[in-house]
Amino acid sequence: MSEETTDRPMIRMAAVDKFFGQLHVLKKISLDVPKGQVVVVLGPSGSGKSTLCRAVNRLEPIDSGVIEVDGRPLPSEGRDLARLRAEVGMVFQSFNLFAHKTILENVTLAPVKVRGQAVPDARKTGLELLERVGIADQADKYPAQLSGGQQQRAAIARALAMRPKVMLFDEPTSALDPEMVQEVLDVMTALAADGMTMLVVTHEMGFARKAAHRVIFMSDGEVVEDGTPAEFFTAPKSARAKDFLGKILTH
Ligand SMILES: Nc1ncnc2c1ncn2[C@@H]1O[C@H](COP(=O)(O)OP(=O)(O)OP(=O)(O)O)[C@@H](O)[C@H]1O
Ligand SMILES: [Mg+2]
Repeated sequence: MSEETTDRPMIRMAAVDKFFGQLHVLKKISLDVPKGQVVVVLGPSGSGKSTLCRAVNRLEPIDSGVIEVDGRPLPSEGRDLARLRAEVGMVFQSFNLFAHKTILENVTLAPVKVRGQAVPDARKTGLELLERVGIADQADKYPAQLSGGQQQRAAIARALAMRPKVMLFDEPTSALDPEMVQEVLDVMTALAADGMTMLVVTHEMGFARKAAHRVIFMSDGEVVEDGTPAEFFTAPKSARAKDFLGKILTH
Protein backbone atom coordinates (compact mmCIF):
# COMPACT_ATOMS: atom_id res chain seq x y z
CA MET A 1 0.00 0.00 0.00
CA SER A 2 2.70 2.48 1.02
CA GLU A 3 4.67 1.49 -2.07
CA GLU A 4 1.67 2.25 -4.20
CA THR A 5 1.43 5.71 -2.65
CA THR A 6 5.03 6.62 -3.34
CA ASP A 7 4.97 5.29 -6.90
CA ARG A 8 1.84 7.18 -7.79
CA PRO A 9 2.51 10.25 -9.92
CA MET A 10 1.28 13.57 -8.56
CA ILE A 11 -0.11 14.47 -11.98
CA ARG A 12 -1.13 11.80 -14.42
CA MET A 13 -2.41 12.49 -17.92
CA ALA A 14 -3.27 9.54 -20.12
CA ALA A 15 -4.39 9.83 -23.74
CA VAL A 16 -5.82 13.29 -23.21
CA ASP A 17 -7.59 14.86 -26.16
CA LYS A 18 -8.98 18.36 -26.31
CA PHE A 19 -10.73 20.09 -29.18
CA PHE A 20 -11.83 23.67 -29.68
CA GLY A 21 -14.43 23.06 -32.37
CA GLN A 22 -12.52 21.43 -35.21
CA LEU A 23 -9.17 22.41 -33.78
CA HIS A 24 -7.40 19.50 -32.09
CA VAL A 25 -5.35 21.32 -29.44
CA LEU A 26 -4.23 18.45 -27.20
CA LYS A 27 -3.48 15.24 -29.09
CA LYS A 28 -3.33 12.04 -27.02
CA ILE A 29 -1.17 13.63 -24.34
CA SER A 30 0.28 11.18 -21.85
CA LEU A 31 2.39 12.66 -19.12
CA ASP A 32 3.22 11.56 -15.58
CA VAL A 33 4.73 14.05 -13.17
CA PRO A 34 6.19 12.52 -10.00
CA LYS A 35 5.82 14.29 -6.67
CA GLY A 36 8.34 17.07 -6.27
CA GLN A 37 9.24 17.27 -9.93
CA VAL A 38 9.55 20.63 -11.71
CA VAL A 39 8.50 20.40 -15.35
CA VAL A 40 9.01 23.32 -17.71
CA VAL A 41 6.72 23.34 -20.72
CA LEU A 42 8.13 24.96 -23.85
CA GLY A 43 6.77 25.35 -27.34
CA PRO A 44 5.72 27.84 -29.96
CA SER A 45 2.67 30.05 -29.61
CA GLY A 46 -0.53 28.09 -30.10
CA SER A 47 1.08 24.70 -29.40
CA GLY A 48 -1.29 24.02 -26.48
CA LYS A 49 0.81 24.91 -23.41
CA SER A 50 -1.86 27.02 -21.67
CA THR A 51 -4.58 24.54 -22.55
CA LEU A 52 -2.50 21.75 -20.99
CA CYS A 53 -2.10 23.74 -17.76
CA ARG A 54 -5.72 24.76 -17.65
CA ALA A 55 -6.82 21.17 -18.21
CA VAL A 56 -4.94 20.06 -15.08
CA ASN A 57 -6.95 22.59 -13.07
CA ARG A 58 -10.08 21.77 -15.03
CA LEU A 59 -10.46 25.33 -16.20
CA GLU A 60 -10.73 23.53 -19.55
CA PRO A 61 -12.70 20.29 -19.69
CA ILE A 62 -11.12 17.59 -21.85
CA ASP A 63 -12.86 15.53 -24.52
CA SER A 64 -11.28 12.18 -23.76
CA GLY A 65 -8.57 10.56 -21.71
CA VAL A 66 -7.80 10.73 -18.02
CA ILE A 67 -6.27 13.35 -15.76
CA GLU A 68 -5.54 12.49 -12.15
CA VAL A 69 -4.05 14.60 -9.39
CA ASP A 70 -2.51 12.59 -6.56
CA GLY A 71 -4.30 9.49 -7.74
CA ARG A 72 -7.76 10.97 -8.03
CA PRO A 73 -9.51 11.71 -11.31
CA LEU A 74 -10.48 15.34 -11.82
CA PRO A 75 -13.96 15.97 -10.52
CA SER A 76 -16.30 17.58 -12.99
CA GLU A 77 -18.21 19.89 -10.71
CA GLY A 78 -19.42 20.94 -7.30
CA ARG A 79 -17.69 20.57 -3.98
CA ASP A 80 -15.11 18.11 -5.30
CA LEU A 81 -14.09 20.54 -8.01
CA ALA A 82 -13.62 23.31 -5.43
CA ARG A 83 -11.41 20.92 -3.47
CA LEU A 84 -9.34 20.17 -6.56
CA ARG A 85 -8.91 23.85 -7.31
CA ALA A 86 -7.58 24.27 -3.78
CA GLU A 87 -5.12 21.41 -4.27
CA VAL A 88 -3.87 22.73 -7.59
CA GLY A 89 -2.66 26.32 -7.35
CA MET A 90 -2.43 28.36 -10.51
CA VAL A 91 -0.54 31.55 -11.28
CA PHE A 92 -1.15 33.33 -14.55
CA GLN A 93 0.53 36.06 -16.53
CA SER A 94 -1.96 38.60 -15.15
CA PHE A 95 -1.95 38.63 -11.38
CA ASN A 96 -5.73 38.57 -10.89
CA LEU A 97 -5.62 39.98 -7.37
CA PHE A 98 -8.78 41.48 -5.92
CA ALA A 99 -8.26 45.21 -6.36
CA HIS A 100 -10.40 46.28 -3.40
CA LYS A 101 -8.81 43.96 -0.89
CA THR A 102 -5.43 44.36 0.78
CA ILE A 103 -2.60 42.00 -0.05
CA LEU A 104 -3.13 40.09 3.20
CA GLU A 105 -6.88 39.89 2.59
CA ASN A 106 -6.19 38.53 -0.88
CA VAL A 107 -4.10 35.78 0.67
CA THR A 108 -6.53 34.92 3.50
CA LEU A 109 -9.81 35.08 1.56
CA ALA A 110 -9.89 31.53 0.17
CA PRO A 111 -8.58 29.77 3.30
CA VAL A 112 -11.34 31.47 5.30
CA LYS A 113 -14.16 31.12 2.76
CA VAL A 114 -13.33 27.76 1.19
CA ARG A 115 -11.44 26.00 3.96
CA GLY A 116 -13.34 27.55 6.86
CA GLN A 117 -10.13 28.59 8.58
CA ALA A 118 -10.44 30.97 11.53
CA VAL A 119 -9.46 34.52 10.56
CA PRO A 120 -6.60 34.86 13.07
CA ASP A 121 -5.08 31.56 11.89
CA ALA A 122 -5.44 32.53 8.25
CA ARG A 123 -3.80 35.90 8.92
CA LYS A 124 -0.91 34.26 10.72
CA THR A 125 -0.31 31.81 7.89
CA GLY A 126 -0.86 34.59 5.35
CA LEU A 127 1.81 36.77 6.92
CA GLU A 128 4.23 33.84 6.98
CA LEU A 129 3.61 33.27 3.31
CA LEU A 130 4.08 36.96 2.50
CA GLU A 131 7.34 36.75 4.44
CA ARG A 132 8.34 33.75 2.38
CA VAL A 133 7.80 35.62 -0.90
CA GLY A 134 9.50 38.71 0.50
CA ILE A 135 6.59 41.15 0.74
CA ALA A 136 5.44 40.96 4.38
CA ASP A 137 5.89 44.74 4.58
CA GLN A 138 3.25 45.18 1.85
CA ALA A 139 0.53 43.22 3.70
CA ASP A 140 -1.82 46.14 4.30
CA LYS A 141 -1.45 47.81 0.91
CA TYR A 142 -3.79 47.39 -2.05
CA PRO A 143 -2.62 45.64 -5.23
CA ALA A 144 -2.37 48.87 -7.24
CA GLN A 145 0.15 50.19 -4.71
CA LEU A 146 2.57 47.34 -5.48
CA SER A 147 4.98 46.79 -8.35
CA GLY A 148 4.16 44.06 -10.86
CA GLY A 149 6.79 41.78 -9.35
CA GLN A 150 5.37 42.28 -5.87
CA GLN A 151 1.83 41.64 -7.13
CA GLN A 152 2.91 38.42 -8.79
CA ARG A 153 4.63 37.29 -5.59
CA ALA A 154 1.39 38.08 -3.73
CA ALA A 155 -0.47 35.92 -6.27
CA ILE A 156 1.96 33.06 -5.55
CA ALA A 157 1.44 33.51 -1.78
CA ARG A 158 -2.32 33.48 -2.33
CA ALA A 159 -2.11 30.17 -4.20
CA LEU A 160 0.17 28.70 -1.52
CA ALA A 161 -2.27 29.69 1.21
CA MET A 162 -4.49 26.79 0.15
CA ARG A 163 -1.60 24.36 0.73
CA PRO A 164 -1.70 23.05 -2.84
CA LYS A 165 -0.15 19.74 -3.82
CA VAL A 166 0.68 21.08 -7.27
CA MET A 167 1.45 24.55 -8.59
CA LEU A 168 0.80 25.49 -12.21
CA PHE A 169 2.45 28.58 -13.66
CA ASP A 170 1.45 29.95 -17.05
CA GLU A 171 3.99 32.54 -18.17
CA PRO A 172 4.14 34.11 -14.70
CA THR A 173 6.80 36.65 -15.68
CA SER A 174 5.68 37.59 -19.20
CA ALA A 175 3.78 40.71 -18.13
CA LEU A 176 6.55 42.02 -15.88
CA ASP A 177 9.11 44.72 -16.50
CA PRO A 178 12.49 43.05 -16.99
CA GLU A 179 13.91 44.19 -13.66
CA MET A 180 11.10 42.37 -11.81
CA VAL A 181 11.38 39.02 -13.55
CA GLN A 182 14.18 37.68 -11.37
CA GLU A 183 12.46 38.31 -8.03
CA VAL A 184 9.52 36.17 -9.17
CA LEU A 185 11.79 33.47 -10.58
CA ASP A 186 13.69 33.43 -7.27
CA VAL A 187 10.45 32.72 -5.38
CA MET A 188 9.62 29.92 -7.86
CA THR A 189 13.13 28.48 -7.54
CA ALA A 190 12.81 28.43 -3.74
CA LEU A 191 9.44 26.71 -4.05
CA ALA A 192 10.98 24.11 -6.34
CA ALA A 193 13.81 23.56 -3.85
CA ASP A 194 11.20 23.01 -1.14
CA GLY A 195 9.87 20.06 -3.12
CA MET A 196 6.72 21.50 -4.70
CA THR A 197 5.44 19.65 -7.76
CA MET A 198 5.37 22.31 -10.49
CA LEU A 199 4.29 22.63 -14.11
CA VAL A 200 5.72 25.84 -15.51
CA VAL A 201 5.09 27.42 -18.90
CA THR A 202 7.80 30.02 -19.37
CA HIS A 203 10.08 31.63 -21.88
CA GLU A 204 12.75 32.06 -19.21
CA MET A 205 15.38 29.65 -20.45
CA GLY A 206 17.65 30.35 -17.47
CA PHE A 207 14.93 29.07 -15.16
CA ALA A 208 14.34 26.06 -17.40
CA ARG A 209 18.04 25.18 -17.36
CA LYS A 210 18.58 25.70 -13.65
CA ALA A 211 15.33 24.89 -11.85
CA ALA A 212 13.64 22.30 -14.06
CA HIS A 213 14.13 18.59 -13.58
CA ARG A 214 12.48 18.00 -16.88
CA VAL A 215 11.57 19.91 -20.03
CA ILE A 216 8.72 19.00 -22.31
CA PHE A 217 8.46 20.59 -25.71
CA MET A 218 5.03 20.89 -27.29
CA SER A 219 4.22 21.51 -30.91
CA ASP A 220 0.77 21.38 -32.52
CA GLY A 221 -0.84 19.83 -29.46
CA GLU A 222 1.70 17.05 -29.06
CA VAL A 223 4.53 16.46 -26.63
CA VAL A 224 7.39 16.20 -29.10
CA GLU A 225 10.30 16.06 -26.65
CA ASP A 226 10.51 15.03 -23.02
CA GLY A 227 13.84 14.97 -21.24
CA THR A 228 16.27 16.72 -18.94
CA PRO A 229 17.09 20.38 -19.59
CA ALA A 230 20.61 19.34 -20.58
CA GLU A 231 19.27 16.88 -23.15
CA PHE A 232 16.80 19.35 -24.53
CA PHE A 233 19.07 22.37 -24.81
CA THR A 234 22.19 20.62 -26.01
CA ALA A 235 20.76 17.81 -28.12
CA PRO A 236 17.15 18.36 -29.20
CA LYS A 237 16.02 15.43 -31.31
CA SER A 238 13.22 16.82 -33.43
CA ALA A 239 13.46 19.34 -36.23
CA ARG A 240 10.64 21.31 -34.58
CA ALA A 241 12.56 21.70 -31.31
CA LYS A 242 15.75 22.63 -33.15
CA ASP A 243 13.86 25.26 -35.09
CA PHE A 244 12.27 26.62 -31.87
CA LEU A 245 15.60 26.78 -30.05
CA GLY A 246 17.24 28.43 -33.03
CA LYS A 247 14.65 31.19 -32.85
CA ILE A 248 14.63 31.82 -29.12
CA LEU A 249 18.33 31.47 -28.46
CA THR A 250 19.28 34.02 -31.11
CA HIS A 251 17.08 36.68 -29.45
N1 LIG B 1 -11.12 29.24 -25.77
C1 LIG B 1 -10.64 28.92 -26.97
N2 LIG B 1 -11.45 28.77 -28.04
C2 LIG B 1 -10.97 28.41 -29.24
N3 LIG B 1 -9.67 28.17 -29.50
C3 LIG B 1 -8.81 28.30 -28.48
C4 LIG B 1 -9.23 28.69 -27.17
N4 LIG B 1 -8.15 28.73 -26.36
C5 LIG B 1 -7.10 28.40 -27.13
N5 LIG B 1 -7.48 28.13 -28.40
C6 LIG B 1 -6.61 27.68 -29.50
O1 LIG B 1 -5.99 26.48 -29.07
C7 LIG B 1 -4.63 26.43 -29.51
C8 LIG B 1 -3.74 26.26 -28.31
O2 LIG B 1 -3.83 27.43 -27.50
P1 LIG B 1 -2.97 27.65 -26.20
O3 LIG B 1 -3.42 28.93 -25.60
O4 LIG B 1 -3.03 26.44 -25.37
O5 LIG B 1 -1.51 27.80 -26.80
P2 LIG B 1 -0.15 28.26 -26.08
O6 LIG B 1 0.86 27.22 -26.43
O7 LIG B 1 -0.40 28.54 -24.66
O8 LIG B 1 0.22 29.61 -26.87
P3 LIG B 1 0.94 30.95 -26.34
O9 LIG B 1 2.42 30.65 -26.30
O10 LIG B 1 0.62 31.97 -27.40
O11 LIG B 1 0.37 31.30 -25.01
C9 LIG B 1 -4.40 27.72 -30.29
O12 LIG B 1 -4.57 27.43 -31.65
C10 LIG B 1 -5.48 28.63 -29.79
O13 LIG B 1 -5.83 29.56 -30.77
MG1 LIG C 1 -0.32 30.26 -23.50
